[in-house]
Amino acid sequence: MAEAEGKAYTMNGGSGLYSYSKNSDFQREAIDAEREHINKAIAVELDIDIISSSNTFRIADLGCAAGPNTFLAVQNIIDAVEIKYQNQGKSSQCPEFHIFFNDHAANDFNPLFVSLPPKRRYFAAGVPGSFQDRLFPRAFLHFVHSSYSVQILSRVPKEVENKRSPAWNKGRIHYSNSTDEVVKAYTAQYAKDMENFLKHRAEEIVHGGLMAFIIPGRPDGRPHSEVFANKSCELLGSCLMDMANKGKISSEKVDSLNFPLYFASPQEVETAVRQNGCFSIEMMEIVPQEKPQLKAFTSSMRSGSENTIKKHFGEEILD
Ligand SMILES: C[S@@+](CC[C@H](N)C(=O)[O-])C[C@H]1O[C@@H](n2cnc3c(N)ncnc32)[C@H](O)[C@@H]1O
Repeated sequence: MAEAEGKAYTMNGGSGLYSYSKNSDFQREAIDAEREHINKAIAVELDIDIISSSNTFRIADLGCAAGPNTFLAVQNIIDAVEIKYQNQGKSSQCPEFHIFFNDHAANDFNPLFVSLPPKRRYFAAGVPGSFQDRLFPRAFLHFVHSSYSVQILSRVPKEVENKRSPAWNKGRIHYSNSTDEVVKAYTAQYAKDMENFLKHRAEEIVHGGLMAFIIPGRPDGRPHSEVFANKSCELLGSCLMDMANKGKISSEKVDSLNFPLYFASPQEVETAVRQNGCFSIEMMEIVPQEKPQLKAFTSSMRSGSENTIKKHFGEEILD
């Protein structure tokens, strides 16, 4: 686990110019848009009898980063549960809320804890570790939320890093626009990660509990190379190759860098859920996202990729 954590793909911490917390409006818009679905899911699907005699409702946000979007996401869930109690005339029986903010141990948790909403109506705890492992006791959580996180693979597929494999990804940093072997290796890694993820959550969530995800992905049938997020990785890779051609960085270093990101289709998500067999999909909506402003997008991309680039090439090339 220690090695995997060392290679973890984490966001920029702190609150500086290129920090994730200052460059995640794009993701926040999706959390805003998700609110009405959370309200509906909790109103229709949540059976309040799953809450045990301790009367505590436990929510985990997996891949919380350094904030602040995670606060909005958990507040939306709490509001929806409270409304449900009000509508049933049971406000006085509303549970207390315990929120578990999870991310890799390497995530910068300090800004998150320092900026916890002062008027929050919940108890907060940090849970360090990969959501590809078990994080919670059996039958513990009532609601699991995760936004913009499960597209991050637990690792770069082994074959893609192996010079002797047909899936060796020379001259690129991602599967987008790469060979079929590379695409296949990434697709298989995603399926394996989702299998793991769902297996662990199935153990941790109480019977009747709910999960909600925001997954940046691609429409069914759309080629990987035509997806905006993939094109962005491709462009970053070609910039790095330009720098290698100018002698600013070594091309071997570019060959050995691969981004552990996979943008799945709804069909792939459905297949993972069906194969796991413990969950059913009650609602799924494809939300086309507005094209972001260019400058905001490049800063947002930097806040997500800078740690990886810095570890691989050193700080000098960042700007
Ligand atoms: C793009 S950020 C999303 C943050 C926040 N959920 C939001 O919507 O703004 C993705 C986060 O997922 C975390 N992450 C990725 N893989 C993870 C894993 N296996 N276990 C825990 N956290 C993970 C990253 O460290 C990062 O903080």
